[in-house]
Amino acid sequence: MTELPPHLSATTDAYDAIAVRYADLVRDHLDALPLDRAILAAFAELARTADAGPVAELGCGPGYLTAHLRGLGLDAFGVDLSPVMIGLARAAYPDLRFDVGSMDALDMADGRLGGIVSWYSVIHAPPRELPSYLAEFRRVLAVDGTLLLGFFESEGGPVTAFDHKVTTAYRWPVDDLAGLAGEAGFVEVGRMLREPGEGERFRRGHLLMRAR
Ligand SMILES: C[S@@+](CC[C@H](N)C(=O)[O-])C[C@H]1O[C@@H](n2cnc3c(N)ncnc32)[C@H](O)[C@@H]1O
Repeated sequence: MTELPPHLSATTDAYDAIAVRYADLVRDHLDALPLDRAILAAFAELARTADAGPVAELGCGPGYLTAHLRGLGLDAFGVDLSPVMIGLARAAYPDLRFDVGSMDALDMADGRLGGIVSWYSVIHAPPRELPSYLAEFRRVLAVDGTLLLGFFESEGGPVTAFDHKVTTAYRWPVDDLAGLAGEAGFVEVGRMLREPGEGERFRRGHLLMRAR
């Protein structure tokens, strides 16, 4: 990777430092989240049906979700900024592919992917940069490719920064994020909001989009 801008270096350092603890925390947490598994299953079915290419989990952290996607029958691989996260993912899932990279500048040809999952990974992007992230997602997706965004929802408020445990993150109004994705070349397929469960602070937002 070329030299990172300061906010991405800060995110990398923060996730490198916490990676082992984070991996332990999240390894099995989907087991207790039926609605999250449901939207992931819907994503997988759409991506399998469109059959437009491999699926990238962008901001994959320790890789458990990439492995989950593989279990749903997808040709999935992971990309993350944090080399320590990628090292943990490779160690935990040696049969899967994990690359170090930034999701706003992917080393991939146009239209290469059939699907993208960004699961709580655009949350750290400064809001003014979100359009360029979505443009990059659209660039690497084939027409009819599927995008799933998971994020913290702002519950009626505007885009809001908050003190995420690792580094500053942002809560988004689901309509704003859907609007930006529309401007980047996506059509909404559906959305799922769920209220915070035990140990969670904020409403969770999930947007399923199709590349047009
Ligand atoms: C909250 S964690 C989510 C990890 C995983 N998707 C999960 O659900 O557990 C955010 C992850 O996104 C990664 N990340 C943040 N900005 C990124 C970027 N620009 N490109 C690639 N990865 C990024 C971080 O390194 C971190 O591993």
